[in-house]
Amino acid sequence: MRNVAVIGSQWGDEGKGKIVDWLSEQADVVVRFQGGHNAGHTLVVGNTTYKLSLLPSGVVRPDKLSVIGAGVVVDPWALLSEIKTVQGLGVKVSPETLLVADNASLILGVHQQIDKAREALRGERKIGTTGRGIGPAYEDKVARRAIRVSDLSDPGELRTKLSELFAHHNIYLKAAGEPLVSVDQAFAELTEIAPQILSYAAPVWRHLEDLRRRDKRILFEGAQGVMLDVDHGTYPYVTSSNTVAGQAATGSGTGPTTVGYVLGITKAYTTRVGSGPFPSELTDEIGQQLGERGHEFGTVTGRKRRCGWFDAVMVRQAIVTAGITGIALTKLDVLDGFSELKVCDGYELDGEKLDYFPSGTKAQASVRPIYRTLEGWSQSTRGARSWADLPGNAVKYIRLIEELIHAPVALLSTSPEREDTILVKNPFED
Ligand code: GDP
Ligand code: IMO
Ligand code: MG
Repeated sequence: MRNVAVIGSQWGDEGKGKIVDWLSEQADVVVRFQGGHNAGHTLVVGNTTYKLSLLPSGVVRPDKLSVIGAGVVVDPWALLSEIKTVQGLGVKVSPETLLVADNASLILGVHQQIDKAREALRGERKIGTTGRGIGPAYEDKVARRAIRVSDLSDPGELRTKLSELFAHHNIYLKAAGEPLVSVDQAFAELTEIAPQILSYAAPVWRHLEDLRRRDKRILFEGAQGVMLDVDHGTYPYVTSSNTVAGQAATGSGTGPTTVGYVLGITKAYTTRVGSGPFPSELTDEIGQQLGERGHEFGTVTGRKRRCGWFDAVMVRQAIVTAGITGIALTKLDVLDGFSELKVCDGYELDGEKLDYFPSGTKAQASVRPIYRTLEGWSQSTRGARSWADLPGNAVKYIRLIEELIHAPVALLSTSPEREDTILVKNPFED
């Protein structure tokens, strides 16, 4: 028996929520360890669809503990509003079922203001952020200015820290011609919700250690994807946290050996929201069809996702940099009915062939995909629950992906529904 970390292996929205939900039946606790409410994880359970941004996807199962680790940036208002929304859908959330790390950093209104102002300043070169204040909040954390959850319990300290923080930001806001932020207002707003947030606050690392010693199963839930990792992704078109599996340990307060298996959630084609390089992007009718069939609209911002063929070079690299053991291949059903499918298995740059994704911004924008072409399948795979139900050409497609990315398929997903999942190898079992 071992613990499992689920991470995205592409540019996010691979179907992490669906797979975490499916796996959480076997887990005792589900832990979010990075990102914030820039994430949008969709769970479809019977007639109910849950869209979760901050709450771990195990929250919908009554007997599971949900944990938000120190590596997450927490917008306290977004958290309370999400709790209310899921409670409205019949989910029980209480300080017994949800723990928020007392050392997690907070996202405040000023972070969202700066996020949007910066994007506007970048103009055409904007990152295409979700506007949720993620980048500015992580900057404050690293710069040792952040307000943390535990600061809410000490009004004197909170006011002093807010004064320092806002003195810093108002210099920029003034220069940028933005409205200035008020310490009094932020202090009043935070003290109003402090009791509610503090009811969930806990030394998460201690709880996890206790669970680990009692051989409880921990499922770590990543947000975003490896290509949005601040070090290993398509920098600067990335998010502001590490999305690789090592962060599961760092962002929750445990050691790397606590994570036994790393499951990389991998879409059977590629999508990306926001700006940045995307070598296998399709701006033609096929890209349009992928988007329509896959309902590729952002869960958080509603933006249309860019679509393209499966990029095996990118995923192969993600598997190495993120330490992925095996993958869950999702949305295979979206490829039903295409007469021909392409898979990128190399790039061309200035007449040379590359078998990896280079790190330079110009090179990343200039590589051209080299494709392998496969025959598609006309039968439907939607809702398939057994390997034997898959058409021969779908199996060939999966096998080629495994061969090119150097990792096995452990799970296969064939619809948004929880149970439309084929188990090949259980990640929790040795
Ligand atoms: P996440 O951010 O990785 O959790 O993914 P999102 O929830 O943002 O986006 C994935 C979308 O695909 C959601 O609407 C899911 O309901 C849906 N989905 C997940 N798995 C499958 C699948 O196997 N087939 C289809 N057709 N849709 C899926
Ligand atoms: P889930 O967990 C897809 C993208 C944004 C933008 C970049 C930086 O649902 O897979 P940020 O607001 O984080 O500073 O934006 O990262 N991005 C995501 N794209 N899925 C996500 O999360 C994302 N979270 C951030 O679109 O390009
Ligand atoms: Mg998403």
